[in-house]
Amino acid sequence: METTLELDSTILGVSVVAEGLNVPWDIVWGSDGHLWVTEQSGTVSRINVTTGEKKVLLNIKEVWRKRTSGLLGMALHPDLEQHPYVFVNYTTKVGPDSVIVSRLVRYTFQKDTLANAKLLLQIDGGTSHNGSRMAFTPDGKLLWATGDVQKKGYAQDSTVLNGKILRLNIDGSIPKDNPIPNSYVVAWGFRNMQGLAVAPSGMVYTSEHGEALEDEVNIIKPLQNYGWPEIEGRHDTPVEKAIAARHQRTQPLRSWTPTIAPAGIDFYASDSIPEWTNSILLSTLKGKSLRVLTLSHDGTIVTSEEVHLENQYGRLRDICVSPTGDIYVSTSNRDWNPSPGFPVERDDRILRIGKIKTEKRPIGYVRKPKPQQQDAVSGSALFTQHCAACHKEDGQGVPGTFPPLQGAEQVTGDKNQLAKIILKGLSGPITVKGQRYDQAMPSFGFLTDAEIASIATYVRSSWGNGASGISENEIKSNR
Ligand code: HEC
Repeated sequence: METTLELDSTILGVSVVAEGLNVPWDIVWGSDGHLWVTEQSGTVSRINVTTGEKKVLLNIKEVWRKRTSGLLGMALHPDLEQHPYVFVNYTTKVGPDSVIVSRLVRYTFQKDTLANAKLLLQIDGGTSHNGSRMAFTPDGKLLWATGDVQKKGYAQDSTVLNGKILRLNIDGSIPKDNPIPNSYVVAWGFRNMQGLAVAPSGMVYTSEHGEALEDEVNIIKPLQNYGWPEIEGRHDTPVEKAIAARHQRTQPLRSWTPTIAPAGIDFYASDSIPEWTNSILLSTLKGKSLRVLTLSHDGTIVTSEEVHLENQYGRLRDICVSPTGDIYVSTSNRDWNPSPGFPVERDDRILRIGKIKTEKRPIGYVRKPKPQQQDAVSGSALFTQHCAACHKEDGQGVPGTFPPLQGAEQVTGDKNQLAKIILKGLSGPITVKGQRYDQAMPSFGFLTDAEIASIATYVRSSWGNGASGISENEIKSNR
């Protein structure tokens, strides 16, 4: 037992069922009683959670892995006995120009291997925003949540299959009862979904990475437009409100600012852990936590949110529930963006969270309230919330991807330039400490002048930068 979690009347134990994995991107409970796992570099394995034995069934040689591309989502047919099908999604490069594509492939499970690869669908791939997740609906159709591959027109173009929820038959054909005749598309306007779950009622939920501002959990309904790229998260800015007043746009069930990078989700229908019955379980990357979103009876309102295991196991990539109500969570500390202190030697790991006992509390027992989170007002706390995911706590960035803030001319030089970068974001080629970068940084204009001033002052004075502070007025004059 690694640790315990104490709920109102249930005590949960956390234990390790597998270790030494390399980014277990998708974990699924199979009707064969095993836990199935994809690793980002291209393997599909089956784990016996009682013995811990892991058997590699398949190594997909053509997988192309970089940053957040590689072998990603997986779904198993709910009845493997009758239909031994395993569906996976991965990126690969094709043709003389090495174009990146994203493939949905079906394999047949037979005698400890996966055979008869059948390509069901191929869409545009990219170095990032590939999604993806897959899940079965109670009526036996396969849903596929795809990413916009950072092409801004894609999510709103209903003829493109990126940035969508797609619905397929298990042979890859288009179901006759899809909402748009002869189209896979069910819903659109998505950026980069990292979680997909179907409740026993048939209700479909997704989690999605926003840009700088807001991450989301959505309820998916046919023919609805979820707004990206014009709308991020709730309809709360004047521009977003104006668009939503003119056109149908669907708001998230829940959104988070600052962002938490929500990843895998599963629906908790079991009564094994009664406090969590009828909730969405969510694993988070940047947030490094397991979140429990308890839902109203009809599943349409989040009535409470709990945060567990924060920072204990690093980034958490996926989650699934077994028929006995045990919960499995996979870590993602060997991905492209690990947090300080990770990976540890045993990473990546798959954890099991399960009930160890029910406590009988004396009548009138009041559980000790959890310490309240401190309001983040200091420059260092704001930096952790808004900047450290890319530029890192030590200001060193990620070589070739996110430039360093330590010793950078853009940070220690002209104050107005720094204010503008934070207010407006940045894109196009720049040179930082002699190295060229050509990526995009989102704008942080949604923060107040005081918040930006305190972040700017913090980065100018940290890591030996030794430059003077920036005032609220100096930020304001650059808006
Ligand atoms: C999602 C990732 C991301 C986040 C979050 C982010 N940045 Fe950046 N930042 C970048 C990228 C990428 C570039 C380089 C852009 C380019 O190539 O044009 C950059 C460039 C910069 C630069 C200029 C280059 C340098 O290294 O000095 C500064 C200054 C900067 N960011 C500050 C910040 C601050 C302050 C925050 C928090 C408010 C922040 N960034 C949040 C990705 C990010």
